[in-house]
Amino acid sequence: MISSATATDETAAAPSRRRDRSTPAEALLARFRTVRNFTSQLSAGLAPEDCVVQSMPDVSPAKWHLAHTTWFFETFILKKWIPAYQPEVPQYAYLFNSYYNAAGDMHRRDLRGLISRPTVEETHRYRSSIDSHIADLLSRADDKALAEIEPLIILGIHHEQQHQELLVTDIKHVFSQNPLHPVFRERQIEVVPGKPSAMKFLDFAETIVDIGHDGSGFSYDNEGPRHRALIPAFALASRPVTNGEYLEFIEAGGYTRPEFWLSLGWTTVNEQRWQAPLYWNKSEGGWWNFTLSGYRPVNESEPVTHISYFEADAFANWSQARLPTEFEWEHAASDSEIDGNFVEEETFHPQTGRSPATEHRLAQMFGDVWEWTRSSYSPYPGYRAAPGALGEYNGKFMCNQYVLRGGSCATSRSHIRRTYRNFFQPEKRWQFTGIRLAHDHA
Ligand SMILES: [Fe+2]
Repeated sequence: MISSATATDETAAAPSRRRDRSTPAEALLARFRTVRNFTSQLSAGLAPEDCVVQSMPDVSPAKWHLAHTTWFFETFILKKWIPAYQPEVPQYAYLFNSYYNAAGDMHRRDLRGLISRPTVEETHRYRSSIDSHIADLLSRADDKALAEIEPLIILGIHHEQQHQELLVTDIKHVFSQNPLHPVFRERQIEVVPGKPSAMKFLDFAETIVDIGHDGSGFSYDNEGPRHRALIPAFALASRPVTNGEYLEFIEAGGYTRPEFWLSLGWTTVNEQRWQAPLYWNKSEGGWWNFTLSGYRPVNESEPVTHISYFEADAFANWSQARLPTEFEWEHAASDSEIDGNFVEEETFHPQTGRSPATEHRLAQMFGDVWEWTRSSYSPYPGYRAAPGALGEYNGKFMCNQYVLRGGSCATSRSHIRRTYRNFFQPEKRWQFTGIRLAHDHA
């Protein structure tokens, strides 16, 4: 008799043996298809009408994400590696280039919502066509060609995962503008008994550490060069700030007291008339927020999200704390497992911590909400952007932005790293952004 454990092991081993027989090109193609299919899965419930709306300049229509990620593979791989490659629609090079000046002219970002053609159906055909070309190319590539194509495919895969996150956060903003409050994914409202664990602070001694990616596996160029950094003693909160804690800030007049705010933040609060995080509304019975599962009461135990750097910084000041630097965050995360509430969970919303935070353990470092750091997005010592169009991927944005760490409920688990540096301007609120507090060591 075969025990259930043995049977399970054999079941698990079978695909592994199959994988062993696959060639490197087949394995790469399988990875490519998995990520491309997940984009299709994310957009599957959207009507064509949902896919063309651009609700603000930062938001791109879902259709544009579907096409632009495809353009990336066509531009940087097919046009280079297939001799005499003829694009089916040459004008897509203009329509779906985002910001790569070296790849040619591009359509205006803030006008993407005016592009009713290609239709959504034609965009899906464009995706299928490029996918077929990639499959053909990989099936014919010799070892030498594959060695050069593989890093570009992997970059395209990670690029597509970034756009999957944007597709989710952009459709949230699009739906939030609709008084019908469309639902992206039906979810039961999670009822969490009791309160979240108390916020503790973990102490870290002064140290010199290596910061940045060590070169094993994929990383973006902005994660290197790996270099040494001095980190003075500090303390880091055991978990992110919750909605309930943020409500205390609101109720203490946080949005009306300039003493907590950076000057530019205070100007922004007044110009934008912010009184709460994006997507929050006060109505009878208290605060409600718009989620990808519809409009619902603010759950006080969940991590607060959709706040700007300015709000995160003001909250930290009100709390007599501060935001961590990106170096403190990376050092503190060195023992944290890369696990959490990622997009694969399909909650599409930060969740109340599932395991208790303690003074010995950091909780929710990965997933749920991107954590604002007080570090400006700047080049690491020795950084040089690569020549050519792909050198424009990260380096040219190293001005007037802040680094965020850890990924969110809209990030892929296989996309995030301890060294991953996300970045946004300090007034942006439409990503799943949150707060983890820090202190100088007392
Ligand atoms: Fe892009």
